[in-house]
Amino acid sequence: MFKVCIISCGMIANSAHIPAYRRFPEDFEITAVCDINENAARETAKRYEISRYYVSAEEMLEKEKPDVVSVCVPNCLHKEYVLMALKYGANVLCEKPIAFTYNDAKEMFDCAEREGKVLMACQSMRFTPDRLAAKQFIDEGGMDEIYYGELSRVRRRGIPTWGTFHMKKMSCGGAFVDIGVHMLDALIWLMGNPKIKSVSGIAMQNHKDEIGCLKGSGALTGEVHNIRPFNPNEMDVEDFSCGMLTFENNAKVSFKVAWATNMPEASDIRLVSRKAGIDLPSGRVYFGESGEKLLEIKKCPYDTPFFGHMYIADNLRYVLKGEAEPVIKPDETMNTTAVLELFYKSAELQGKTIYL
Ligand SMILES: NC(=O)c1ccc[n+]([C@@H]2O[C@H](COP(=O)([O-])OP(=O)(O)OC[C@H]3O[C@@H](n4cnc5c(N)ncnc54)[C@H](O)[C@@H]3O)[C@@H](O)[C@H]2O)c1
Repeated sequence: MFKVCIISCGMIANSAHIPAYRRFPEDFEITAVCDINENAARETAKRYEISRYYVSAEEMLEKEKPDVVSVCVPNCLHKEYVLMALKYGANVLCEKPIAFTYNDAKEMFDCAEREGKVLMACQSMRFTPDRLAAKQFIDEGGMDEIYYGELSRVRRRGIPTWGTFHMKKMSCGGAFVDIGVHMLDALIWLMGNPKIKSVSGIAMQNHKDEIGCLKGSGALTGEVHNIRPFNPNEMDVEDFSCGMLTFENNAKVSFKVAWATNMPEASDIRLVSRKAGIDLPSGRVYFGESGEKLLEIKKCPYDTPFFGHMYIADNLRYVLKGEAEPVIKPDETMNTTAVLELFYKSAELQGKTIYL
């Protein structure tokens, strides 16, 4: 049995992490949670009948000595708490994005390696049924080297308004870092993790005064406790981004990521190679002059909006028993983090191409 502690008790801890560990009660026992907001910690412990709660993460780690820690704090605090949890001898699941610079991500994974612990980023959106089917198709040789791709992540009005996502000092970026990172992770994984070479991109803010519903902005269960009141005047991050990635093998990917824009909602990935091209989420495969077929897309075994966290928790228990490799690899996460870093440098310079 692995003892689990959760650092922070916001939306994702309540809606995804706690339910994911609870799905595998034979392997995980959540012994404590913490949050600097005592109400959030107390209410979460009560809601899930967890024995103890703390306001200090360090005190919790010292007293509970967990085997596994979930780091669910706002983005800019990830590194600090991951290093702390590793220092206290825990394996760590860290929410995305784990860091904002390649060097920070490397420092975190190097620390995990030195401590002999697992550190995995919660890149939970690579587990959609269409993306899993595409990965199988690619791994079985359905495509040769991918030379071009497109990704589109569009919300109509989906700025997250319950926490501190809209504030650079807490989140380090806006739509690109929040929902773009899921798409980048899925794309890089599907492409076989070619190293990023350069990024050119722009970041804009157009719709900060237009608030959508909580579900549409990423609180997929629709249930958020301890909502922090949203003040649009605090918003200093982008709600729209677009640009181009170039990988070391010269593959190009064009992207657009929006929390809010006047386009159809999208979570689309297209990839092409000489042999075939795929379109997701439709699962349509294109080849030759007029060849088309559909990927066999299997039903998700988990009936919850945050099903990706179930896949991750399921994988983690076998990793900890020495029976599986982490499903989300450090090299993939470091590569994705490098894209984030290059994107924001490029956006600061109005789209200048920035090389790694
Ligand atoms: N994988 C996904 O699909 C997904 C979805 C949503 C959010 N997330 C990620 O989860 C993280 C948290 O998002 P959320 O929606 O739960 O936000 P949230 O605002 O609901 O919760 C954040 C919590 O962190 C607490 N906190 C702030 N500073 C702290 C500190 N120093 N120590 C301890 N606790 C502290 C706050 O009190 C709050 O309860 C973010 O990194 C976000 O990107 C991931």
